[in-house]
Amino acid sequence: MSVVVHLVGAGPGDPDLLTVRAARLLADADLVLHDQLVPDEILALVSPAAEVVPVGRRCGSVVVGHPSVVARMAHAAHRGLRVVRLKGGDPVVFGRGGEEVLDLAARGVATELVPGISSAIAAPELAGIPLTHRGLAAGFLVLTGQRRAGDDELGGDWDLAARFSGTVVVLMGAGRCAQLCAALVDRGRAGSTPAAMIAAAGRPEQRTVTGCLADLADRVADADLPTPAVLVVGDVVEVLAAQRTAEAGRTSTAACL
Ligand SMILES: C[S@@+](CC[C@H](N)C(=O)[O-])C[C@H]1O[C@@H](n2cnc3c(N)ncnc32)[C@H](O)[C@@H]1O
Repeated sequence: MSVVVHLVGAGPGDPDLLTVRAARLLADADLVLHDQLVPDEILALVSPAAEVVPVGRRCGSVVVGHPSVVARMAHAAHRGLRVVRLKGGDPVVFGRGGEEVLDLAARGVATELVPGISSAIAAPELAGIPLTHRGLAAGFLVLTGQRRAGDDELGGDWDLAARFSGTVVVLMGAGRCAQLCAALVDRGRAGSTPAAMIAAAGRPEQRTVTGCLADLADRVADADLPTPAVLVVGDVVEVLAAQRTAEAGRTSTAACL
């Protein structure tokens, strides 16, 4: 019998956006270790007989450290248990899934990666913002706004992001919107470039604030958004603006400078 752990993406939060494979694995698991980003509605799909353990980080504080998570998964898998490591969005997009694959392999455990819908794609789309759009954006660039948890330094290549003609998506940047927008403007991106912050995508409390690089940070500060949130920069933010305006209550829109 092969010793295997499933590294599964939970998508942005709405159980309907979970893959069929992820739902099957959750229903069959003996042990599920999940990130703090995974909501209860998805954990409700786990068999009542299974053990469910919260691990990972929330707001920079570690609930259970990476080495003990790997050790626990390896131990359970070697005992023949069906182990699922459940991560928000996609398991490897800023999810440290690759590190867990390598560390499990070092303990004699194989992994199967089960892709999930990343918030990098889901958040803009659920807010009515198409990441690519003919004539406006021929590609998109996804960056982290934080080099590592608790680090003040901005992650990502901001020179590249400022030059990039397509859409820029920034994860892990909710708390530093002003710094991120300024980093792009300082490097030559126009202050009037449309920008949006999408919070709690795929959850009942989902909200979007739109503006432009010059004023988004103030609008976000006034809006008191929930977390987590994704920053989107580019002309695509305005493509479906009319539709968003019609979605009163769920979305607030604002014109650019
Ligand atoms: C550690 S990263 C993990 C990303 C995840 N693996 C993914 O593919 O979506 C966490 C960041 O993802 C973004 N994020 C995750 N879920 C989100 C959601 N439902 N709505 C908005 N942003 C989300 C936020 O930028 C958050 O700071």
